[in-house]
Amino acid sequence: MGTITQDYIENYIRNLIIEEDSFVQKLELYSLEHNVPIIHPEVKQFLSVIIKSSGIKSILEVGTAIGYSSIVFCNAMNNGKVVTIEINEDMKCEALKNIDLAGYNNNIEVILGDANHVIKEIRGQFDCIFLDGAKGHYIHLLDTCLELLKPGGILISDNVLFRGMVANNELVKRRKITIVKRMRKYLEVITSHRQLKTSIIPIGDGVALSYKLKD
Ligand SMILES: C[S@@+](CC[C@H](N)C(=O)[O-])C[C@H]1O[C@@H](n2cnc3c(N)ncnc32)[C@H](O)[C@@H]1O
Repeated sequence: MGTITQDYIENYIRNLIIEEDSFVQKLELYSLEHNVPIIHPEVKQFLSVIIKSSGIKSILEVGTAIGYSSIVFCNAMNNGKVVTIEINEDMKCEALKNIDLAGYNNNIEVILGDANHVIKEIRGQFDCIFLDGAKGHYIHLLDTCLELLKPGGILISDNVLFRGMVANNELVKRRKITIVKRMRKYLEVITSHRQLKTSIIPIGDGVALSYKLKD
């Protein structure tokens, strides 16, 4: 049994997902073979629906890895823009190669650096912010993310249930205690924040969807 959903449910849902983009399929295989963590298939599907149905045109992402989710987001938008931050130079290079092959050079900008610092240099406002970098840092990024998110925009946070550990002390591994504590704090803050309406969805590793209120 999975820690967030039961395997049979997860497998059933995954089997219903049709990926039409053969390059995205290739990246899914690459990430499996090279142990690169990317968004789960059901999360990909969920976020694609959110992006399409909300008419999202600009996304700020923390955690590029090989560029998989940035490419998926561009597929869901019609000529949209993604600014994505990655701390690891090798990952950034791999992402740039993939973005080029996907034909999204003009749509995706990859910024190399620690999101905790470089996010403060980003100007403008985005329709959507996707947090998928270091799990213990979401709480530190929140204030800046709220400044960079348009009113009516959506903050999406991945892995918020962190293999079930966030919801159940018995699952917490000793070396993960700090991440779990910070994630619990983060969830408390975004679920009670006066500017946000948040829903926590138990798919993948847990996804939080926070709508930034307009007034
Ligand atoms: C789960 S992976 C991102 C997966 C990607 N969003 C996808 O689904 O295709 C997390 C990435 O965040 C990067 N990362 C970790 N800490 C970071 C930080 N402080 N600033 C920027 N990136 C960071 C890691 O190097 C890793 O590539």
